[in-house]
Amino acid sequence: MSSVERTQVAIIGAGPAGLLLGRLLERQGIEAVILEARSREYCESRIRAGLLEQGSVDTLVEAGVGERLQREGIVHGGIYLQLDEQRTHIAMDELTGSSVTIYGQTEVVKDLFDARVASGGRLLFGVEDVRIADLETDRPSVHYRHNGSNHELQADFIAGCDGFHGVSRQSIPEGVLQLWQREYPFAWLGILAQVAPSTDELIYARSAHGFALHSMRSHEVSRLYIQVDPAEDIADWPDRRIWDQLHLRLAAPGWSLQEGPVFEKSITPMRSFVAAPMRYRNLFLAGDAAHIVPPTGAKGLNLAVADVSRLAEGLAAHYASGDDSGLEHYSDRCLERVWRAQHFSWWMTQMMHTDPSDDAYGDQLSRSQIRYVCNSRAAATSLAENYVGLPFASTLGG
Ligand code: FAD
Ligand code: DHB
Repeated sequence: MSSVERTQVAIIGAGPAGLLLGRLLERQGIEAVILEARSREYCESRIRAGLLEQGSVDTLVEAGVGERLQREGIVHGGIYLQLDEQRTHIAMDELTGSSVTIYGQTEVVKDLFDARVASGGRLLFGVEDVRIADLETDRPSVHYRHNGSNHELQADFIAGCDGFHGVSRQSIPEGVLQLWQREYPFAWLGILAQVAPSTDELIYARSAHGFALHSMRSHEVSRLYIQVDPAEDIADWPDRRIWDQLHLRLAAPGWSLQEGPVFEKSITPMRSFVAAPMRYRNLFLAGDAAHIVPPTGAKGLNLAVADVSRLAEGLAAHYASGDDSGLEHYSDRCLERVWRAQHFSWWMTQMMHTDPSDDAYGDQLSRSQIRYVCNSRAAATSLAENYVGLPFASTLGG
């Protein structure tokens, strides 16, 4: 026997997408239950993205979860692009009028958990055997096990916010979704180190030894990445080996990289993936459940925020006035942004990484592209407006 519960929106997954959707709905007086497979501790310690577009910051602030973000987030007006030992500053704020904010995904998730607990909204951790049923009806449901017993959650709508490996996308009948994907022949090895960043703004570097990125989490914690083979085992990367590669790849005249104790390290494969449409009947996909980008453009988290903002708007209009146009256009509107981010992330990735499967000609093309971005205001502006994120004002008068 299952216990049966009813809600307006069943949200699967308590990553940034699911948690923020829950928050936005709550602000509109719409009831939701969030089901998460992992523990709260696990979710809060999963180290991932760190860069928020201005639009994402605005959304979090409007949702009432931006207080710590505004206090602790570090606003960056630009980035450095580096080719071999030549480093060029790209002044995003000057080129676009917008900036980005460094604030860890872990912190966004903690703030959203705290807000959910404070408001008393339903959020269950450690749910198992999650299964979507009755999708062909107007009353879809989610079946799951929690604390050893079976439960059924009936809802008007289901939001699949359960990431790339979740069950939501897989619950859509075969033949409905069109899929596009690309795997890359490299991965990112990322570390967190207890040391003040050696740079005021992020450095994206391409060198003969491969890609490196110097980012940060605070004025005391540095976040650094290097390109490695996806088959690498993290056990083969003692701290010394990582720092040596970072020194080699980030070297620039008159600049030095400060080292500190490494307290987190992991390897992330890189892929591009899109599933469309992002809706099947009353099931809506949002965030990584529908699309993945390689991290070079820092878009994954920002896309998740944009998706759920649109979904919350559509659901709010549905419940307020029966206007379903937002829900009907949800997928198309999200996919416009998604494909721009897909192209930008692919473009940044191929420009900045050394592709072991590419020939010497391809290597020269990417190097030429970096020099062009660093030397042409038009090319730099194109990178900048993509990096700071849509929407950007039309400069063509259209
Ligand atoms: P997720 O954060 O994946 O959240 C999905 C949630 O659903 C998880 O909590 C998961 O436990 C839960 N879940 C899964 N299956 C079920 C189920 N069956 N039932 C219930 N719950 C379930 N982006 C960047 O911009 N920069 C980066 O440096 C960067 N690094 C990354 C590193 C890694 C290892 C990964 C995986 C992603 C990284 N990303 C990065 C991408 C970014 O973190 C994601 O785009 C973002 O987390 C998307 O949020 P989400 O809520 O859609 O999905
Ligand atoms: C970070 C990650 C990215 O993928 C990126 O492009 C910039 C910064 C980060 O983790 O800080």
